[in-house]
Amino acid sequence: MEQLPYNEKVMDHFLHPRNVGEIPDASGIGNVGNPVCGDVMRMYIKVENGVIVDAKFKTFGCGAAISTSSIVTEMVKGKTIEEALSVSNKAVAQALGGLPAVKMHCSVLAEQALKGAIKDYYQRQGKPAPFDIDTPKHEH
Ligand code: FES
Repeated sequence: MEQLPYNEKVMDHFLHPRNVGEIPDASGIGNVGNPVCGDVMRMYIKVENGVIVDAKFKTFGCGAAISTSSIVTEMVKGKTIEEALSVSNKAVAQALGGLPAVKMHCSVLAEQALKGAIKDYYQRQGKPAPFDIDTPKHEH
């Protein structure tokens, strides 16, 4: 049988992504893209009393980009904004049971999309985000 580069959990999130779509009255939206592979991710969060009550995404990208954005929406639901800020790309990859080394940058895109949505949330509140979002690095 052909050896797939992704484990079962990654494949499950790729084939059955959770929380695909948009939140029309989102509290924050993050848009990120990888200029090298051309993959783009958009993440929506709905925040109530400082807690992320809903998260959705739209990703045009590789399998790992779809899987990581799917699981990150699951991971942040029910978390406070502060807790969600500590969700790193490594935590995302770990939650998926690991990613091939050449696909770790896809999890960076998921972290950046989440941070972008949180930054947008802060901006809409008229507050500066308590962190800087750097451009995702791309090593292909
Ligand atoms: Fe572009 Fe995965 S190859 S995000």
